[in-house]
Amino acid sequence: MATDSKVMVDITRLSKTYTPNINALVDISLQVEQGEMVFLTGMSGAGKTTLLRLICGIEHPSKGFVEVDGNDLSKISRSRLQSLRRHIGVAYQNFKLLPDRTVAQNIAISMEVAYRSRMFIRKQTKDLLAQLNLEDKYNIKTCKLSRGEQQRVAIARAVANKPDLILADEPTGNLDAETTSLVMDLFHRCNLEGTTLLIATHDKSIYEQPDSKVVRLGGGQILEDGHDYDDAPATMDHGAADREES
Ligand SMILES: Nc1ncnc2c1ncn2[C@@H]1O[C@H](COP(=O)(O)OP(=O)(O)O)[C@@H](O)[C@H]1O
Ligand SMILES: [Mg+2]
Repeated sequence: MATDSKVMVDITRLSKTYTPNINALVDISLQVEQGEMVFLTGMSGAGKTTLLRLICGIEHPSKGFVEVDGNDLSKISRSRLQSLRRHIGVAYQNFKLLPDRTVAQNIAISMEVAYRSRMFIRKQTKDLLAQLNLEDKYNIKTCKLSRGEQQRVAIARAVANKPDLILADEPTGNLDAETTSLVMDLFHRCNLEGTTLLIATHDKSIYEQPDSKVVRLGGGQILEDGHDYDDAPATMDHGAADREES
C-alpha cells in the first residue's frame, strides 16, 4: 500500500458469532482505502450483510476491531457514531424505506439531518431520480412502487448526501440489466468524486469488469482479496462458491 493512502475501513481480526453458535464471520482482516470501489462477493450466508452491518455500527463484533475513517467503533461515543453515520450512505438489502412517505421524502432524510438547504435537497433529489430513470415517481409513496423501483430509491437515499463511504447490500438484486447499468454508472460517478464504495453482491455482471477489486467471502472467512479480473484469462472459473441462487 502506498504510504500516503488513507484507510477508510480497517478491519482487524473480526469475528461475529450469533447466538447460539453461528459463526457468521471468523477472524477476518481487511482494509479498504479511501477512494476505492470494492466488491464483496460470496455465496448466500457467506457473511456479506453481517460485515456491512458491522462497518456501519448497527452490529457489534464478538471479537476484533472495526475502524471507519480512523474511528474505532468500539470506542467512540454514541453521539460520535451518529455523526460518523452521517458520512456513511447505506443501501440495505431490504431497502428499509418509509412506506407511507413519498420517494422524495425518503431520499431527503439523509440531507435533512445534515441541514442541507431545501434548494439543494430538491435539486439533488430530482437529479438522482433522473439518473435512475425514476423522474415520474417524485411524489409517489414508496409502498406503491415495484421492488426494483424501491431498490433504486434506497440507492438514491444512500448517495444523496454525498457520503464519504457508501455501503450497498445487493444493490442490483431486483434490477434488469439496463437499470443495473444506471445504478453502476451512478456508483462510478460517486467514486470519481472520491467516495469509497463497498458493494456486497453476487451479480457477476457488475464485478467481473476490468480493474474490479473483489473480496470473496466464504464460510465467514476471506477466500480471496483484491482479485484483479483484468489479468484473469477469459475462461477463468471463479469457483463454485460464487454460484449461488439469487
Ligand atoms: N441476526 C442474526 N441472527 C442469527 N444468525 C444470523 C443473523 N444474521 C445473519 N445470520 C447468519 O449469519 C450467517 C451470515 O449471514 P449474512 O451475513 O446475512 O450472509 P450473506 O449476506 O452473505 O448472505 C448466515 O449463516 C446467517 O444465517
Ligand atoms: Mg446478504
